Amino acid sequence: MTSPAPVDPTERVPQAAAPVKLWFCPNEALGPAIATVLATNWLDEEEQETAGRFLFDRDRRQYLVAHALVRRVLALESGIPEAEAVLWRSSRGRPFLRKPVEGLPRGGRELDFNLSHAGGYNLLGVVRRHRIGVDVERLDRGDRGLDAIVESFAPQEIAWVAQAAPGRARDRRVLRLWTLKEAYAKARGIGLGLAFDSFVFTLADDRGVLAFQPPDDEPPRRWRFAELEPEPGVLVAVTVMTGPDEDPVLHLHHGFPWSREAPRRLRLPQPVGAPG
Ligand SMILES: CC(C)(COP(=O)(O)OP(=O)(O)OC[C@H]1O[C@@H](n2cnc3c(N)ncnc32)[C@H](O)[C@@H]1OP(=O)(O)O)[C@@H](O)C(=O)NCCC(=O)NCCS
Repeated sequence: MTSPAPVDPTERVPQAAAPVKLWFCPNEALGPAIATVLATNWLDEEEQETAGRFLFDRDRRQYLVAHALVRRVLALESGIPEAEAVLWRSSRGRPFLRKPVEGLPRGGRELDFNLSHAGGYNLLGVVRRHRIGVDVERLDRGDRGLDAIVESFAPQEIAWVAQAAPGRARDRRVLRLWTLKEAYAKARGIGLGLAFDSFVFTLADDRGVLAFQPPDDEPPRRWRFAELEPEPGVLVAVTVMTGPDEDPVLHLHHGFPWSREAPRRLRLPQPVGAPG
């Protein structure tokens, strides 16, 4: 009988970290009538007022689906019923869930979420530790604002974009960088208040972040970046921070979460540092 291999006490064993959870929900997943009913019953006064201010039905619908999604997912995750969750915003507008002092009914004290909604798609990310930032963009948003977007990038990124043929290939590069930058800025809670040329991504040709140079004010952290395309032509970027011994997987849910359906399980890329 062979004896077990000696245990190295200095070896770091990855912990079974709670998954990083994503809900990708097209507007069509929730019909307009049911979205209105859910919003009437679940959204708070401020959300109802915001919904009432939209000029176009299309924009109101997007808002109602996004915010019904937030409340539904937070209820599933935290155990706090949809209409009872108290959401507050930082001075920079980032929403947070107010946690009861006795902890969340579904366990734990920590829960962070981030929402993005654009062009008929809604994306919500939830983590049980640290912070998350998410962004969703349609590739076919035309050249609406793309030139101005590129001007906000760092010189190395502008050069990388220019190497692609004009049209879809170049737009894809622009929007890959843009969604990643938004997701990072949203994880930090700063949003567009962060200069987008103060941090630099080096991307693989098809998908994936090869290197990340953070802004000067950012202490060393373990950021991980995921790029997904849950539907052809819909780009998603996710930024999460993880502890040194944590190696969580990514759970991707599709549609409105009426029930606890099994998600797609995906590998979360390893943390990346500055270019070597
Ligand atoms: C956050 C921000 C980048 C969103 O960009 P966007 O591409 O237009 O929108 P997205 O759909 O991806 O994300 C919008 C959601 O991000 C969340 N959000 C808002 N501010 C945020 C912030 N500072 N950090 C992270 N998330 C934020 C909200 O949930 C918002 O949706 P909601 O208002 O319907 O709840 C942009 O609105 C921003 O920079 N806001 C900060 C503005 C600011 O500094 N205000 C200071 C007070 S004047």
